[in-house]
Amino acid sequence: MIDNDSHIIRKVNGNRWGQAQEFELKFAQNTIDSDDDWNQWWYEKFDRYSLLEHKNFNNVLEVGCGPHTNIRFILPQIKFTKIWLEDPLIQYYITHNLTKSNSFINFLKKKFGKNKINYLLELYSDLNSKVDLSSSKLEDLPYKDNQMDLIICINVLDHVNDYDRCMQELYRVLNDAGILILGQDLSNQDDMINCPESYSDIGHPIKVDLPSINQTIEVRY
Ligand SMILES: C[S@@+](CC[C@H](N)C(=O)[O-])C[C@H]1O[C@@H](n2cnc3c(N)ncnc32)[C@H](O)[C@@H]1O
Repeated sequence: MIDNDSHIIRKVNGNRWGQAQEFELKFAQNTIDSDDDWNQWWYEKFDRYSLLEHKNFNNVLEVGCGPHTNIRFILPQIKFTKIWLEDPLIQYYITHNLTKSNSFINFLKKKFGKNKINYLLELYSDLNSKVDLSSSKLEDLPYKDNQMDLIICINVLDHVNDYDRCMQELYRVLNDAGILILGQDLSNQDDMINCPESYSDIGHPIKVDLPSINQTIEVRY
């Protein structure tokens, strides 16, 4: 039970979420070529996804997949039938390097014969018939109940509109034998004292702690 949850923000209004998404898009545009948004770090933290090795999944969903995706580290280890990638900014991410032009990108395009550095685009081009893209929000996923066998949600929940709705949706579309890979930066009481600037951070409107997440998971089981 949480005694004092003044450090927790579970929901924000649409206007506040829109500001965070504007920030997120600018961040991606400025860093897409140089930064992997901690995907490699999470890969190591999840023990290189060794839990998933050689497993067979029909439907694999990454929510809030971002421009780089975490799924790129997982796909080489598993067998799958279909991949679903969801992010409200997906149309910007997938076209980013098509419109951007600088000498480094041109060099890479020449070297690899195609745009190797936009992983999302590469994945979509290579596996077109096996990949489905959606710009829906996690609060309102366009998938059927129990449709997904594996869901990846990394570095997303502190960016959303409504944390509880997102958790409900994740569990609605995940089937009973499915696996949820959830990676999340957390906030706690100490952050309010030692890191108050994190509470005016435009890019991360939602603040949840471990007890909040555990409570949501316990309700499900
Ligand atoms: C920090 S990025 C992380 C991207 C990716 N998961 C990664 O680890 O590289 C957060 C992503 O969450 C997405 N996002 C924000 N609000 C969302 C929502 N309500 N539903 C789904 N995704 C959302 C943003 O568009 C952004 O791409």
